[in-house]
Amino acid sequence: MEKKVGPNSLFITFEGIDGCGKSTQLLKAARFFEDLGYEVVQTKEPGGTMIGKHLRSLLLEEGAKNQRSEVLMFMLDRSEHLRQVIVPALEAGKIVLCDRFIDSTLAYQLEYPFEILDSLNHFATGGLKPNLTFYFDIPLQTAINRRKNRTHTDQIESRSIEYMENVLARYLKVCMRDPERIKIIPSNHSIDQVTKLMEGHLRGSIESNF
Ligand code: TMP
Repeated sequence: MEKKVGPNSLFITFEGIDGCGKSTQLLKAARFFEDLGYEVVQTKEPGGTMIGKHLRSLLLEEGAKNQRSEVLMFMLDRSEHLRQVIVPALEAGKIVLCDRFIDSTLAYQLEYPFEILDSLNHFATGGLKPNLTFYFDIPLQTAINRRKNRTHTDQIESRSIEYMENVLARYLKVCMRDPERIKIIPSNHSIDQVTKLMEGHLRGSIESNF
């Protein structure tokens, strides 16, 4: 059974490959809600708690020693993050905006079938799902070009082009599995154009949740 947290709260997640613009759009969404007087919590995975920061550095700087450990470390990060940050904020009636969540695991830990990852995600989260998820859709080459200006690339980002193509393909399957919750935002446009598309859905989420 899917768990939900009180009617006054809203849990929104931001997904996509690195360079898709999700972190910029999360900031825009925070400003959108704050301007309307809502209390917003901005957070991210991995790394939204103290233990999560250690896990983030292990996962993204050193790299996990094997694929099973990698997926379990993301689950540990999620379990702590959910209980320490996400649920308390939702119970306090706040709007939680989270950079990556369950769908990142489904897309990136692609060595495993959805059924296994669904069970692990369910174990980590107790079945809590976002009210709304944005998937910022861009071609791989655009993301690569945007990332060229960055000085630092993590262990997962620096995997092969073939792996990243498979991540993109998995993300689209993830979107198809839950079209009610996950909104695909075409993101090969200017920041303002993407924000406009996103804000349409944000308005809708206020109307249906508050
Ligand atoms: P980011 O914080 O810069 O988006 O980077 C996080 C990296 O971790 C990114 O390459 C995606 C990866 N990741 C997974 O592989 N599985 C997960 O469950 C999560 C949350 C992130």
